Amino acid sequence: MARIIGGLTTSHIPAIGNAVPREKELVNDPYWKPFFAAYPPAREWLRKAKPDVAIVFYNDHGLNFFLDKMPTFAIGAAFQYRHADEGWGIPTIPPFQGDPELSWHIIDSVVRDEFDLTTCQEMLVDHGFTVPMSLFWPGNTYTEVKVIPVQINTVQHPLPSPARCFKLGQAIGRAVASYPKDLKVVVLGTGGLSHQLDGERAGFINKKFDLMCLDKIVNEPEALTRLSIHELVKEAGAQGAEFILWLAMRGALTGKVTKIHSSYHVAVSNTATGLLVLENAA
Ligand code: DHB
Ligand code: FE
Repeated sequence: MARIIGGLTTSHIPAIGNAVPREKELVNDPYWKPFFAAYPPAREWLRKAKPDVAIVFYNDHGLNFFLDKMPTFAIGAAFQYRHADEGWGIPTIPPFQGDPELSWHIIDSVVRDEFDLTTCQEMLVDHGFTVPMSLFWPGNTYTEVKVIPVQINTVQHPLPSPARCFKLGQAIGRAVASYPKDLKVVVLGTGGLSHQLDGERAGFINKKFDLMCLDKIVNEPEALTRLSIHELVKEAGAQGAEFILWLAMRGALTGKVTKIHSSYHVAVSNTATGLLVLENAA
């Protein structure tokens, strides 16, 4: 049977995607050193764990979905996903390989579980998806894993609540556990932690709240699911609402969860960066 062996989260700031190909020359750069220093344990865990599939909870920022058509939840069921982000020029990283059979198994299972996802047989992915993949699989070795993008709206209100995203994660966890192929699966949650990119509170960061989230998500995620989306925006900033993607990831971990590694660094660009590696034992 397929099983979820762990969950990883990281911020997905586009500037990181731009820095990743130059990581070797930036490791001693005062701005980037504390950021990149946090990643080797996460990469090492993945190298040893050798997952077959990564299910990635991410948010589209206006590339594949725009304000005219904004699904609350959408899932990829394509053979391949291409990076076509805005800004910095169209990147040339390799495409991501899909697993349509597992995608459709998940879709069947979660629709039966009363989550009505938008199913995408074609889907472009942006920095919300690609930056974490390039960060966790150095040299873009993510070509070794198949991917399933799960998109959650964090752009146009009303956004789904933390509790609803956690339950979607749980439903996807049940779907994976009922898949007959012997696959090792990791789940990723991308974005966060606190940040606000525009408006009166542009540059807003809430370290106290972020550290509380990083702590509670390990063994008391239910406490975080009691937040309303408006409380989350107030505490974490308009774009800090991306934390719902971390909660979806955490919902999918239904076994015994152990923290392997975490990091918090303020700031890259306008964002408090967070990193978490959780192991999920049966
Ligand atoms: C930044 C952060 C984001 O989450 C994003 O999607 C785009 C930009 C930033 O801090 O620059
Ligand atoms: Fe973002």
